Amino acid sequence: MSHWPEQPNDIIIKWIKDHSSSLIVADFGCGDARLAKSVKNKVFSFDLISNDPSVIACDMSKTPLDSASVDVAVFCLSLMGTNFPSYLQEANRVLKPKFDPTTGGAEPGKFVKAICELGFTSISKDFSNKMFILFYFKKKEKQISKDVTWPELKPCMYKRR
Ligand SMILES: C[S@@+](CC[C@H](N)C(=O)[O-])C[C@H]1O[C@@H](n2cnc3c(N)ncnc32)[C@H](O)[C@@H]1O
Repeated sequence: MSHWPEQPNDIIIKWIKDHSSSLIVADFGCGDARLAKSVKNKVFSFDLISNDPSVIACDMSKTPLDSASVDVAVFCLSLMGTNFPSYLQEANRVLKPKFDPTTGGAEPGKFVKAICELGFTSISKDFSNKMFILFYFKKKEKQISKDVTWPELKPCMYKRR
């Protein structure tokens, strides 16, 4: 990552700074909580291990947040577990419903389509970075069923460079 021309966390921090500081953020798999330390917003930082009092140690599939209590859910390089649909389901639970009919129905790539089936709406995709793609989603207004059948998504295979 140190060789990447741009860090995804920096782009997310900029996105949050460009929006309202009143937005409540949940950082799923926050690492050292750099995001929380870089913005004025209230940020709930979650990671399996906490070396910082601001980081809540938990499995991000079961956070202590109330349902419909945050505006933004961030997964920055943290959708690595094989049970990642449960992380997205948790994000769906804690996000406040925000329905914007003008941003629905984005171009259906396979990944985007699968995420949408988990209860999210794709807002946009940013291919401008060489090493990663940024996907923007909003929670769908309709709550997803607990009996949802998870779409098939293949795990990421890291290549030696
Ligand atoms: C590659 S690091 C990214 C850290 C940070 N988001 C960043 O961009 O600098 C992935 C982080 O996700 C955390 N993580 C992975 N699975 C998790 C889980 N099930 N619950 C909580 N944290 C998890 C790891 O402990 C690790 O700190």
